[in-house]
Amino acid sequence: MMPPLQINAERLRSDFEALSRIGATAEGGVSRPALSEAHLAARAWFRERAAAGLEVNVDPAGNHSAVLRQPGARKTLLLGSHLDSVPQGGNYDGSIGVLAALEVLRTIKEAELLLPVNLEAIDFTDEEGTLVGALGSEALAGLLKEVALRHPRGGRAALEAGLARAGLKESHLLEARRDPQSLAGFLELHIEQGPRLDQAGVSIGVVTGIVGSRSFWFTFEGRANHAGTTPMSMRADAGVAASAFVVAIRKIVLEQFPQCVATVGQMTFEPGAFNIIPARARHSLEFRSVDGDALENLKTLLLERACSEAKKQECRVAWEQVANWNPVAMHPAAQAAILQSAKAQGVETLSMPSGAGHDAQSLAHITPTGMIFVPSVKGISHHPDEYTEWAHCVQGANVLLGAVIRMATQHER
Ligand code: GLV
Ligand code: MN
Ligand code: MN
Repeated sequence: MMPPLQINAERLRSDFEALSRIGATAEGGVSRPALSEAHLAARAWFRERAAAGLEVNVDPAGNHSAVLRQPGARKTLLLGSHLDSVPQGGNYDGSIGVLAALEVLRTIKEAELLLPVNLEAIDFTDEEGTLVGALGSEALAGLLKEVALRHPRGGRAALEAGLARAGLKESHLLEARRDPQSLAGFLELHIEQGPRLDQAGVSIGVVTGIVGSRSFWFTFEGRANHAGTTPMSMRADAGVAASAFVVAIRKIVLEQFPQCVATVGQMTFEPGAFNIIPARARHSLEFRSVDGDALENLKTLLLERACSEAKKQECRVAWEQVANWNPVAMHPAAQAAILQSAKAQGVETLSMPSGAGHDAQSLAHITPTGMIFVPSVKGISHHPDEYTEWAHCVQGANVLLGAVIRMATQHER
């Protein structure tokens, strides 16, 4: 048997190093929040690299693509991920998936391999949710809702500023929708962002499904007063109410929802001084699970608890839901293509769900979708220390290449 086709590991490495310099931080990671100057610079770099041999496309949601057309093909197999990062993030999340996708297209072009479908290496807009979350992939999948744009996770001002910086028109975003009939599938290579592969010593994860999540902003309202003269019994301290709620969230999840995780990642007190009792506390809340019913039950319990903690401190509470992603399964045909490709490369695999959200979550609604994971050393991610052994990145890219060829050849021209 012929050995499977391999990507050019040196070219991938040199792209990875060049991209890691864009938005680089002193801590050794990158900070490229969606549609920031650093993110736009990364996208300009991607367009330039793609244009060296491939067709370049940018859609109305700002998704960037390199396209390899195949003679007579009607459908397109998408592969890719995202170039935006969380603030103070790492070098691998999203980047490795976009770079590997680009490298797969170059490899197939250079090998003069003819496939029955077009190939498109895509970089989706705002996967991380510093603005909306999965903005580009949801627009492409026809899932983006106007309400998500009216109440984005990062707030309206940040969304409007980002779109203006990128030259994108909010009224045109939904036009990025593709006809599902035009697609042959979607494959995404990504770092695991958790410890399972690293701990098991297995280099390839085959993703079975992706967690769903709910995101909220909570605002507790109390009464500002003098921090020195107001007796403890006469306070309506919004900071205490919000903090008690945060502690209760952890207890509820640990004791009643072992299949869920919940995070309060941002909190501010107002007016915000040593000597004023907080009148207002505002915080985010995000919780996730592969079990959609558990998410809804947890939501009910948490909203009740927010009200009771507010009442105890003589405060009021209001909330705004700013994101809602349901759990999705990866397609059996895509999982099979990944498994076969890994086997042909002689690498061991572990089938596992994803605890992180991904663009694949949007695409799974409209086309056969699969994800390949490579190990995150010590499970660290969304942090500058995020690290994946280079050999694993190359292996992941080669498994992606084999899976692309397998998925593509299941289709007729
Ligand atoms: C994206 O990485 C997310 O899971 O928040
Ligand atoms: Mn990611
Ligand atoms: Mn991420």
